[in-house]
Amino acid sequence: MIRMKTITEAFISQFGGSSEEVRVFFAPGRVNLIGEHIDYNGGHVLPCALEIGTYLAVRKRSDSRLLFYSKNFQDKGVIEADLSTLVNDPAHSWANYPKGVISFLSDRIGSEGYEFYFCGNIPNGAGLSSSASIELVTAVCLNEMNGIGLSSIELVKLSQQVENQFIGVNCGIMDQFAVGFGEADQAVLLNCETLEYRYVPLNLPNHSIVIANTNKQRGLADSAYNERRAVCESALEKLKTEFPIQELCHLNEGQLVQAEQLLDPEEKQRVRHVVTENERTLKAVDVLEQDDLFAFGELMKASHLSLRDDYEVSCLELDAMVEAAWKQKGVVGARMTGAGFGGCTVNIVEDQHVESFKANVKEEYTAKTGLVPEFYTVKVGRGTRELTGEEVTQLQL
Ligand code: GLA
Repeated sequence: MIRMKTITEAFISQFGGSSEEVRVFFAPGRVNLIGEHIDYNGGHVLPCALEIGTYLAVRKRSDSRLLFYSKNFQDKGVIEADLSTLVNDPAHSWANYPKGVISFLSDRIGSEGYEFYFCGNIPNGAGLSSSASIELVTAVCLNEMNGIGLSSIELVKLSQQVENQFIGVNCGIMDQFAVGFGEADQAVLLNCETLEYRYVPLNLPNHSIVIANTNKQRGLADSAYNERRAVCESALEKLKTEFPIQELCHLNEGQLVQAEQLLDPEEKQRVRHVVTENERTLKAVDVLEQDDLFAFGELMKASHLSLRDDYEVSCLELDAMVEAAWKQKGVVGARMTGAGFGGCTVNIVEDQHVESFKANVKEEYTAKTGLVPEFYTVKVGRGTRELTGEEVTQLQL
C-alpha cells in the first residue's frame, strides 16, 4: 500500500526539487460488462470505470525537454524526448502514449516541457485499458495545467485519435469514453454512434465484480483487431446497397437472414455477432434495471459464445476461464471482456462464494492451460481527474 504522499515523494526522488509545483492526476481502467466489438459499428456498450488505474505526478520544466518515468516499467528508466521531436519511436515503448497526446496538443501547450512520473495499478496489456488510462490522464493533465479549456468529450476523442493515428490501433471510442466519463457504482450505457449516454446504477447487492486475468499475452491482438474492423467495413459497404443503413448496428436481428445473402461466410459470422450483441446489450440494461441478475448473467454467457463462435476473438485460455467460471456456485455471469485473444474475463459472483470461485477456477484453469491466473475484485469508480487534497489523504494505492 502506497499513500498519495508517496507518489509525490517518489517523483521528487526521481526528478529532484521540491513538491510545490508537482500536481497529481488519476485516470481509471475500465471493464466492459457487455457490448463487445460493436463500438466501431455504431452499437451500444456498457462499460464501467474501475477504482484502479493510472496515477500521474507531473511538473513543468523551463526548457522543452520531456522526461517520462513509469514505476511499472522501471527497467526502461527515464525516457527522454523533446517538444520538437514528437514522433512514435518504438524504442520509447510505453512513453509513446503520453508522447502522442502531447503531440496532438502541441500547438496549445506552449514551449515548456514536463517531468512525468506514472504509477499504475492496472495490469498492463490485460484488456483493462491501461493505454486509454495513460492517454486520458495525460490529456486531462495538459488541459488543466495549460488552461486549454477542452471539454471531457473533446479530450476523450483526442485520446482515441492518438490511439488510431499515433499508436496505429484502429480502436473505437468505448475505452477512452469509459475512462473519461465513469462514475462510482454506475455503468455507462453509451450509444457509440451518437455518443449519447446515460448512467445505469450497478445494483448488485451481495455480489462483486471479479476480473480474472488469463495472463495470456495478447500477442497478435492489434493486427487481428484491425482485421475484424476491416471485415465489418466491407460487410457494411455491401449491405448499404440493399439496406438504408450507415452503421452495422442499424440492422436488427429480424433483417439478418436477408442481410446474410449479400455476405461471404466470414462477413456473415461477424455481422451476426455485431447485430445480436447490440440487441443483447440493450436487453442487458433492461434486465439490470429490473434487478434480474439471472437474466443479465445469461446475456453475458450468450455474449461470450457469440464472441467465441461468430466473431472469433476468444482463445483457449479465455474459454477455459469462462467455462470453469460458469460451473461455480454463486456465479451470475462470466464472459471475456475487451478486445480478446487473451486478457481478462469479467465475472459477477455472489460475495459468499468469491473465495471458492477463485480457488476452483484457478485450479481448473491452470490444469487446462498451464498458466497461473490472477483475480481482482474490483470497485466501480469515477473517471479521470486531478486529485484534490481530500482525495489525496483518502487515497490508498
Ligand atoms: C478494445 C478497443 C475498444 C473496443 C474493444 C472491444 O478495447 O479499444 O474500442 O472495440 O476492444 O469491444
